[in-house]
Amino acid sequence: MITAGLDIGSRTTKALILRDSQIVGMALAKTGWLPSAMARETLADALMTANLDRVQVQRIVATGYGRIHSAVTEIADEQFTEIACHARGIAFHLPGVRTLIDIGGQDSKVIRLDEGGLVLDFAMNDRCAAGTGKFLEMTAQGLDLPLDMFIEQALTAKSAARISSMCTVFAESEAISLLAEGREMNEIARGLHNAIAARVVRMAEGLGVEADLGFSGGVGQNAAMVRSLEEVLGVKVLVPPQPQFVGALGAALLAVRRLQP
Ligand SMILES: Nc1ncnc2c1ncn2[C@@H]1O[C@H](COP(=O)(O)OP(=O)(O)OP(=O)(O)O)[C@@H](O)[C@H]1O
Ligand SMILES: [Mg+2]
Repeated sequence: MITAGLDIGSRTTKALILRDSQIVGMALAKTGWLPSAMARETLADALMTANLDRVQVQRIVATGYGRIHSAVTEIADEQFTEIACHARGIAFHLPGVRTLIDIGGQDSKVIRLDEGGLVLDFAMNDRCAAGTGKFLEMTAQGLDLPLDMFIEQALTAKSAARISSMCTVFAESEAISLLAEGREMNEIARGLHNAIAARVVRMAEGLGVEADLGFSGGVGQNAAMVRSLEEVLGVKVLVPPQPQFVGALGAALLAVRRLQP
């Protein structure tokens, strides 16, 4: 059985191909201003890596903010929410996860799962860049550091500067002021990562954080963010292989479920 998952995120589009429950192809591209064209292209790229043709795919499920675009509904057979797809995707790699944090480019979510991997509840921030990958990109830029060096800096810090503002614009000027006062760059970088972790804690209030704790989305690849979440939440954070593809994987798995009798 061959299925595809398409996750059209606000920043990147991910396509993943499953053949008999094995991941056989993946592709990622910037979403840009034409999400539907990018969805088509990314799917074609993933099929190429899997050495398969579009006609061999039995079902395609789309997720992500761009899933409802009319041109995407032509490509995909069905749409599911990001919550449903991330929950399904994490259960494939880490079935013990009961709390999942997804931090993407433009939103962040905390999802509580039961023993069967079904969604119990969730909380989400999609109103502003605070608490998302965009926050880190913008504050790194404000400090004149490429993102990878900013992450490196945060990883070398022995302590963290306190950043009190959650707002990206205010946090950036707070960081620059701290630098002017002589505070070490690495402690500021760590403090900015901790600010996101604090935001996640606030989001999780009311949901509760039960181990195992999983981390998906592109920011799951940021080792400093993993460390800050562990420090602030006091729980080990598990990152699946290819965390940025968890939503696309879940979509492809939900397509499999639909095909099963
Ligand atoms: N190796 C990496 N290290 C640190 N951050 C990374 C890395 N790779 C990607 N990111 C960050 O991940 C974010 C994109 O993640 P993702 O592709 O999950 O977002 P998205 O699904 O498009 O967005 P959303 O779910 O918010 O609509 C960007 O902010 C980017 O900076
Ligand atoms: Mg996403």
